Amino acid sequence: MPPFYVTTPIYYVNDAPHIGHAYTTVAADALARWHRLNGRETFFLTGTDEHGQKVQRAAEKLGRTPQEHADLMHVRFKALWERLDIQYDDFIRTTEPRHTRFVQDLLQKLHDQGELYQAPYSGWYSTSAERFWSDEEVAAATAIALGKPVTPADLHNGVAGVCPDSGAAVEWLTEHNWFFRMSAYQDRLVAHITENPSCIMPETRRNEVLGYLRKPLADLCISRPKARLAWGIPLPFAPDYVTYVWFDALTNYVSALQEPPARLAFWPEALQLVGKDILTFHTVYWFSFLFAAGITPPKQVYAHGWWLMTGKKMSKSVGNVIKPDAMIDAYSADALRYFLLAAVPFGADGEFTQEAFLHRYNSDLANDIGNLSHRATSMPEKWLGSVVPAVGVQTDEDLELQAVALRATDAFRANMELVQFKAALEGLWELVRAGNKYIDSQAPWALNKRGDMERLGTVLRNVMEVVRVAYSYLACVTPGKSKEVLDRLGMAAPDLDPNLNRLTPGHAVSHRDPIFLRLDAIPESLVSNDPVPAAPPVAAAAAVAPAAPAVEAAPVAQIEYDDFAKVQLRTGLVLAAEKHPKADRLLVLSVEVGEEKPRTIVAGIAAVYEPAELVGKTVIVVMNLKPAKLRGIESQGMLLAAGGSDVASILTPYRPVAPGSVVK
Ligand code: MSP
Repeated sequence: MPPFYVTTPIYYVNDAPHIGHAYTTVAADALARWHRLNGRETFFLTGTDEHGQKVQRAAEKLGRTPQEHADLMHVRFKALWERLDIQYDDFIRTTEPRHTRFVQDLLQKLHDQGELYQAPYSGWYSTSAERFWSDEEVAAATAIALGKPVTPADLHNGVAGVCPDSGAAVEWLTEHNWFFRMSAYQDRLVAHITENPSCIMPETRRNEVLGYLRKPLADLCISRPKARLAWGIPLPFAPDYVTYVWFDALTNYVSALQEPPARLAFWPEALQLVGKDILTFHTVYWFSFLFAAGITPPKQVYAHGWWLMTGKKMSKSVGNVIKPDAMIDAYSADALRYFLLAAVPFGADGEFTQEAFLHRYNSDLANDIGNLSHRATSMPEKWLGSVVPAVGVQTDEDLELQAVALRATDAFRANMELVQFKAALEGLWELVRAGNKYIDSQAPWALNKRGDMERLGTVLRNVMEVVRVAYSYLACVTPGKSKEVLDRLGMAAPDLDPNLNRLTPGHAVSHRDPIFLRLDAIPESLVSNDPVPAAPPVAAAAAVAPAAPAVEAAPVAQIEYDDFAKVQLRTGLVLAAEKHPKADRLLVLSVEVGEEKPRTIVAGIAAVYEPAELVGKTVIVVMNLKPAKLRGIESQGMLLAAGGSDVASILTPYRPVAPGSVVK
């Protein structure tokens, strides 16, 4: 069996992750887990794209250097992946030396081979957007602005063009840049894609790429003058230029495999998941870079569709994003993972609505599979002393259930090979529904009443086996819930054998709370789409001002609930931590607490914690403590810690929760 390598795009660190980013990563994680479960050697890579204009501008807006910004923001992706139970093998950041070194070596190699050349580059430059636009793009935007037709020729003959982004004036600018001879690879690209049809999926997307390649392919500008864009990897042979962000970013899929050398075996056995918006980059550009470098293109690039909100692509710039943390808080990480994969065929667009989520959660999870697993342990608890029963004589209904198990698991397997999660889950649900029907038709309660314990044992054993099969296959989609249910059946790990005879008779099973609780309405926190209440007035901070030293043995003064309620506590994610420049005892933390900007918190914990170990930890923050300057740095809140003045441990939540969650 060849090894399996799965990648996600590396995400821009200009903004926090949303459902769209979570989608690709959950899909990649489900595939990686599936292949690992099947014993295949697997490598799963994700990461962050940290160079380029977008990141530079986002950092400038917040008064940070781009590196500081990237250091803070990449932690948000890692924290979300932890909450979503994503088991990646490596997380690459394009600002890491292992990556920049590889990109520069590759650029030098292509330069030495004569693949790169310098030439003037002309276009409509927008100072406000800090980018070039084509004739067609500016003509279209200008036509809308003027309310009359505008052709590219008009723009060159006195009609003032406008920037499609900002509407500000654009100017015709020519600058020298470095170009990659991409046009030389046009025929080879067409031949490669035609001879390896599954290298771009789904088929409609492959046809789009072939359509794109029917027009003459131009050479690609792969540099930006440092004077205009400083935040990038310098060209080793022309240090006044940095490389174009896509050359830098695409290379991550291979740069991450350089060390240790054993990783090289994963290339080109790669399945690269991307959103449909970045397919041309991942095929035309990426494959031709690889051809030039003498590297075989990846086995498959799979383009998925978009999550939409009222018909528009969910994106931070449109402002229509759903925060994954809020969905996880309301429903659980596994419910979100399930919904993303089950609701829409991989490749198609999907409208994200709270109504659809609630409906699918209740019908598929709470009702179908939740009920099934609940019944599989409640009935043995009532009638069989909570142990796995032995199988007796098999009836036609039992054999039919076995046949469904074989069919359903085959369908799951076949569809996972095709990267069709929805169809795979629908296949498995045939077994889940058959399991529930089997309980209804076999009526174990009646068998118990009649005292037919042998048949009762056989029926319940079959039900338990169906639960074992269903949750074992589901372990790649709902890993947390699967583990919990399998644990109730006394199993340490998933078992994919579809034969209904794998549990150990006499083994103890345990019955616990329903695994997916039914919800009657969309949770309140999601209706407002703002799970965090506004911060209370800072005046309330008096309630938490340090008290006067208590008199020894004096009774602790009691307070009313209202007094306690004045203290506003929230969870916070530590994005960065460093030593206070002027005090050995203090650390300066940057903590994300669900507000627009992270808070700076100065804490007296330097004796007990290294700054690096705190990054990525969730802490409890007193939000409405009056800000105070500690050795010259303003602290905008306080961390809770145990141990009094000799801090023993900072407090952190027992289970992962979203930053900014209210603590009461
Ligand atoms: N940094 C580049 C990718 C470089 S890969 C060498 C980039 N980053 S991104 O952060 O803007 O988004 C990357 C990916 O996020 C998309 O390709 C897609 O996988 C996912 N999505 C972002 N918004 C999405 C939706 N609304 N719906 C589904 N997926 C979307 O592009």
